[in-house]
Amino acid sequence: MFESLEPMPPDAILGLMEAFRADPREHKIDLGVGVYQDERGETPVLACVKQAEERLLAEESSKSYVGPAGAEGYNARVQALLFGDALATRIEERTSVVQTPGGCGALRVAAELVLRCRRDAVVHVPDPTWANHVPLLGDAGLEIRAYPYFDRTTSGLRFDAMAAHLDALGPGDLVLLHGCCHNPCGADLDRAQWQAVLELAQRRGFTPLVDLAYQGFGDGLDEDAFGVRLLAAELPELIVATSCSKNFGLYRERTGAIALISESAPTARTARSQLLNVIRGIYSMPPSHGGAIVDRVLGDEALRGEWLRELGTMRDRIHALRSLLALRFADHGDAGRFSFLGRQRGMFSLLGIGPAQVKALRDEHAIYLVDSSRINVAGASHDNVDRLCGAVMSVLSAAAGRLGTAEG
Ligand code: LMR
Repeated sequence: MFESLEPMPPDAILGLMEAFRADPREHKIDLGVGVYQDERGETPVLACVKQAEERLLAEESSKSYVGPAGAEGYNARVQALLFGDALATRIEERTSVVQTPGGCGALRVAAELVLRCRRDAVVHVPDPTWANHVPLLGDAGLEIRAYPYFDRTTSGLRFDAMAAHLDALGPGDLVLLHGCCHNPCGADLDRAQWQAVLELAQRRGFTPLVDLAYQGFGDGLDEDAFGVRLLAAELPELIVATSCSKNFGLYRERTGAIALISESAPTARTARSQLLNVIRGIYSMPPSHGGAIVDRVLGDEALRGEWLRELGTMRDRIHALRSLLALRFADHGDAGRFSFLGRQRGMFSLLGIGPAQVKALRDEHAIYLVDSSRINVAGASHDNVDRLCGAVMSVLSAAAGRLGTAEG
């Protein structure tokens, strides 16, 4: 049977991770996969997570199944993180939060649930969006359409075009929104734009699906949840996919959650029962370890304080690197081309250079970024940022030189 299969090319992001690991050059720089790195290029386990794991090891008394919804303690913690205590309480009866294997698991079960509501549902995704959104949502059977989002000439948003696209949608439509720290372009909706999206959803009746994978990596835990909370406070229905991969550094523990907000408490109970049934038919139940860690960290005042400090350190480092990159590019004579790096948020930005320059950076300078020219800012360091900016400028001027020769 398998002889009929065609081989797949390596994944655009994960394939890069393998290529980087295999590269023997010592000065290599990894701006590829979206994992936070410290100044030494490492992704250590957070101290609060280590302590929680030690306690868990000592206290855990059973490895029996947790059930399709995962750990209820974890789900309650995520609910409060997402919505804040006051709003979470206000919408509690209409909300259902369920632990999932990472944000990916949340997106996939969201797609399956939506298909149970409407076989003809269409999901509208920003152009560009995270590459894995398409298989996660589309392979489930949802039709995918792109809406205008990022302006590659200004590195800002095409908000008017986005609003015009949303203004033509209706109740069978789902709109994927990045809650903060857009992956891959780093350009987020501002508060007035979130308000405009809310009003469009109210008028047109589409359902927002917010992917909040980087809460705490932009401006702060509450600030990054502004859009999610605005929609949750005002709309009858909302889906949120979230993840503790980044803000707790729990990447390989696959610790995510889906939050469903329904129009009424009875509808919420029905939707939850359908969601649990979807989950039972896919992976049966999520792994428990990551959720148990988050529950312990957030349930202990000292560990929670430690987590907030560690999260703040990661966020501050990303901000500092963004400012430094903008500054060093200016030193290398970029004439403002990369100044947007200092204004954007989160780990990702699109440099806006072509695939040939991306390849030259990898081959000639051992600098790895995704073919789309997405960089993970956290992969830079104070030590390598100068070389990095110099290398980008040199592949750009080599390309301009080749163009000049060809034209001349
Ligand atoms: C990324 O965008 O690099 C991360 O979310 C990792 C992944 O799975 O693609």
